[in-house]
Amino acid sequence: MLKKAHWLLWLGFILLLAACQPYQLKGTEYPEGIQAEEFTLTTTEGRPFRLSDQRGKIVLMFFGFTSCPDVCPTTLAEAKRIMEGLGDETENVRFVFITVDPERDTPERLGQYVSNFHPELIGLTGTPEELQTMFDAYGIYAAKVPLEDSAAEYTMDHTARVFLVDQDGRLRLSYAFGTPDEDILQDVQYLLR
Ligand code: NI
Repeated sequence: MLKKAHWLLWLGFILLLAACQPYQLKGTEYPEGIQAEEFTLTTTEGRPFRLSDQRGKIVLMFFGFTSCPDVCPTTLAEAKRIMEGLGDETENVRFVFITVDPERDTPERLGQYVSNFHPELIGLTGTPEELQTMFDAYGIYAAKVPLEDSAAEYTMDHTARVFLVDQDGRLRLSYAFGTPDEDILQDVQYLLR
């Protein structure tokens, strides 16, 4: 009897240790305290979207274009699963898809594209200058690549990371293309606690 109690005590101790392990963020962390650069872009409904207006919410940002053959649809399918996984907490999260191809991505086309993945996803656009200023601030690469023998004329090479700005407006994390959506979801849920 004594032995069994002893064993249970050890089990309890081990469980307690496991529970006390600090959560390890899955994304690539920026040094603490980096304030995310302010920007104002335009939603597909024509409303301004200013980063500083999102305080108190987590902002996930991805850059791409609607005619992207692979990287963007894959990431937006992940975005959909993240938003679904968040349930009621989606109100505390803004997932934005910022176009790198404003020439072809009209607000209408962009809006239709993102809402096909999830109704809460936000498409953002701007003038080429506004977008370039924002890309420079965040180190986003976006460049036209001519396509030969294609009606599309060109495709875009672009940065394929997801960036996370926390509730205090700090640039906290980024995720390489192909990061499992559960990892991003867990980080977001942790930061929302
Ligand atoms: Ni893409």
